[in-house]
Parts: sequence; C-alpha cells; structure tokens
Amino acid sequence: MRRAKITVVGAGNVGATCAHWAAAKELGDIVLLDIPEREGVAKGKALDLAQCGPIEEFDSRVTGTADYKDTADSDVVIVTAGLPRKPGMSRDDLIQTNVKIVRSVAEQVSKHSPEAVMIVVSNPLDAMVYTAWKSSGFPTHRILGQAGCLDVARFRAFLSMELGCSIEDIQALLLGGHGDDMVPLPRLTSVHGIPIDQLLPKETIDRCVQRAKVGGGEIVQLMGTSAYYAPASGTIQMTEAIIKDKKRILPCAAYCENEFGVAPGQKGKGYFVGVPCILGSKGMEKIVEFKMDAEERKFMDESISHVKDLVATVVKIFPELA
Ligand code: LAC
Repeated sequence: MRRAKITVVGAGNVGATCAHWAAAKELGDIVLLDIPEREGVAKGKALDLAQCGPIEEFDSRVTGTADYKDTADSDVVIVTAGLPRKPGMSRDDLIQTNVKIVRSVAEQVSKHSPEAVMIVVSNPLDAMVYTAWKSSGFPTHRILGQAGCLDVARFRAFLSMELGCSIEDIQALLLGGHGDDMVPLPRLTSVHGIPIDQLLPKETIDRCVQRAKVGGGEIVQLMGTSAYYAPASGTIQMTEAIIKDKKRILPCAAYCENEFGVAPGQKGKGYFVGVPCILGSKGMEKIVEFKMDAEERKFMDESISHVKDLVATVVKIFPELA
C-alpha cells in the first residue's frame, strides 16, 4: 500500500510544527519545502524531526527540500508560507506580501500535485484561501483553509480552564472568517451534552468568547510573533481527517455560495468562509448547514462582509485574481 504523502510548504514555526504533528501521528511521508534561500532550514528541520523517529516510534519519512519536484503527487499540501504577524499588526496587514507568496506556491502545487487537497494556513486566512483557489485552478472541494479548528480549540481550552473539566468533554462550534469578528456559538456549546449556559454564568462565557476571538493577538503580544503549536495542531486535525477518510465534521474555511447565505445565486462568485464541513479523502465533501438564530445571523453576516472586503482588497491590488 502506498503511504500517504504530505507536503508542508514553509519550514517556519507553523510549517515545522505541522511536520512534527504529522510525523508523530504517522500520517504518511512528509516533505518540508521552503524557498531556495532557506533550503538548509527545511533540510535541517526535516533531519532533526526524522531523528525523533526511533524515540517516538514513527516510520514517517521526513525530508526537506527547496525543489517542488520532490513534492510531486502529494495527497495533501499544507501552505504555511508567508510572513507572520508582529505586535500591533492585524492579520489583514499581511495581504500585499502574502498574496504574492501564496499565489506562487499555489501555482507550483497545481503543477506538481494536481490531485492534492490543499490546506491553506497563511494569513489573512480567508483572503489567502481565495488566492490559492484562483491561482491553482483547483476545484473548490480540494481547497480549504485552516482557522476554525484552531479557533474552536482556543474556545474549548478557555472553557475547560473555567470549568476545571477535561477538554475532551467540551463540544463547541465557531463560524465565520478568521478575524476578530469570528462567530462563536455559545448556544451550540455543551459539556458532555449539557448546554454551557447551565454550567457557567453568561459573563464567563462571554469572556471565553472574547478571548477566543482575539486569541491569536494575545499570543502575538506575548511572544512577538504568531502562534504555531495550536495552528499546526488544527491543520493536522484536518489532514488526518482527509488522509484517513474519516468524514469528520470540522469547522474549516470552505467555498460557499448559497450555503449560510454567503453569496446566494452567485455561481462561481462565492467566498471561503468558516463553516462546518465533512472532511474525507476527497477534501471538503459536504457543508453541514443548520439554522442560526437572529443574533448569530447578524454576527455571521458581519463576518462574511469582512471576508468579502478582504477579497475585494486582494482583487484591487491583483486584478488578475478576480
Ligand atoms: C492565530 C494565527 C495563526 O490565530 O492566525 O494564532
């Protein structure tokens, strides 16, 4: 049986940590790619990780490269390339530079791994998934953005700190863009099936919601650059669902038209927005829709409109991506 092949583009903090989790979970062979100037970093980190195999007992081969030929026929390609945030920057401040980087990556991916599922992690996430879609020509079900898995994980982690219970028993959902206007859904948050509002006062839930929304910024302030353990962990949660064809329902940035009222009736003119998806070997296999209440709808509409503004900024600077 052929082993799965996972390429991680970008050997920085997020990329290397994705390779780490993927190897530790033995999801397949891993190729860590960076630009020629950073080939040594890609090769060095890959070698370092490969040397964990005997201790951690994984047989995944981990290799580093700057040559896309080595990534040929990957099943999943994770795109982490791009600049991270510095203190005081919003994710949106990165657009100009990161569109160029993600565009060239996506073109190479479509050439060398035309059947892959691409998971974009670079920021500003919602605009970068769009850029990868337009630049690769991939069908929409094979392009996804990682954000929701991370944002939900943050929300669950904060709730578990308040509750003093295992994070395993906390279920939560979060929609919208990966900006500070993402849409947590306390109504659909539960602890072993018990609605969260029966266990925590509203102020505490609101505090967790707020902290999840600005959770990326909190870490940038603390350490001067973007988070990477949890972003990578969220990415590998998606990768595992795809490689193992698990049909997990995970919140991902996925292409929506009519779904969740993102771009009703506008064929081919939809947007990538965080929504619950079934992930399997084909990539995004189904968007799972549900009824929102009036307040959630309002927050979702605001978040969608922010995603649309971001994409409009991309298209203004790079009209060829329209
Ligand atoms: C964060 C970055 C990775 O939310 O977007 O930490």
